[in-house]
Amino acid sequence: MITVESVSKSFGGRPAVDDISFQANDAEILVLLGTSGCGKTTTLKMINRLIEADSGNILIDGKNIRDRKPEELRMGIGFVMQNSGLFPHYTVRENIATVPRLLKWDRKKTEDRTEELLSKLHLSTHLLSRFPNELSGGQQQRVGIARALISNPPVLLMDEPFGALDNITKAGIHAEFKSLEELKNKTTVLVTHDVQEAFELGHRICLMDKGKIIQTGTLKEMLYRPENDFVRDFFAANRLLLEYKVTVVKDVLPFLLGFEMDFPEDSSIWTVIQKLSADQVNTAPYEQMVQAFNRYRKLQAV
Ligand SMILES: Nc1ncnc2c1ncn2[C@@H]1O[C@H](COP(=O)(O)OP(=O)(O)O)[C@@H](O)[C@H]1O
Ligand SMILES: [Mg+2]
Repeated sequence: MITVESVSKSFGGRPAVDDISFQANDAEILVLLGTSGCGKTTTLKMINRLIEADSGNILIDGKNIRDRKPEELRMGIGFVMQNSGLFPHYTVRENIATVPRLLKWDRKKTEDRTEELLSKLHLSTHLLSRFPNELSGGQQQRVGIARALISNPPVLLMDEPFGALDNITKAGIHAEFKSLEELKNKTTVLVTHDVQEAFELGHRICLMDKGKIIQTGTLKEMLYRPENDFVRDFFAANRLLLEYKVTVVKDVLPFLLGFEMDFPEDSSIWTVIQKLSADQVNTAPYEQMVQAFNRYRKLQAV
């Protein structure tokens, strides 16, 4: 769906993005992960031509974005900016209607779609006449997401969309975000510096450092098949928790012989042991599950 081929960008002679290549597949959430200044935002903005690449090619649906008018290209791409990026002097209603105005939708169509999105994003219609500075951080981010989704674009680019939120709010919004039906068929490139967020939301991760992509892979590949010490070290601090989260019941079934359990095969071990740990009388299922998980991870060890 999105193909980035050998793309570079320098600012004043200093490379910000250095010969990177990756693909984001149909209906997948690809995460660009890395510390501040590694080139994530620059990469994202080259995909909708807010920044022009110096060299290399970016294709969307097989078409080179250089052959398209930037305004027209951006109509097909929802963009959620860092720190919500709402226009401060526009109300919530006007912010959400940015793209419909450009597309010359009639009032009824815009209103209906706005209401539909507000309800999906759990925002009250009371907020429509407020200005961004009259909203909480979480509300601002939701409005930013509504604005990006309104015309149902096939591609969504999100730059640290939950960056300004505290951890409790973040966990809630992550859960909602993952269950949003609106996202199911979109190709999403999500930028974050937050390892846990990357694992929570991403299908695959591109780990970046100093303008380069160090490794691209599934969540499990990043943990169990790191290509070098940089990748290994990057996840070291969160490693055990991440392993609990990416390992699912199906993975540990071979080590659970004779163990009766009614969790779906795609439940994460993290979810399962949280539930099992609630039973403080019969602790055997919990212990067996942890043991099976440990056997599994020993076999993956790197
Ligand atoms: N408009 C710009 N002018 C000059 N340098 C820039 C500009 N935008 C980004 N940079 C530099 O490029 C590098 C990558 O920036 P950026 O893509 O914003 O990183 P990230 O989003 O990963 O924090 C940084 O060193 C940053 O200072
Ligand atoms: Mg950035």
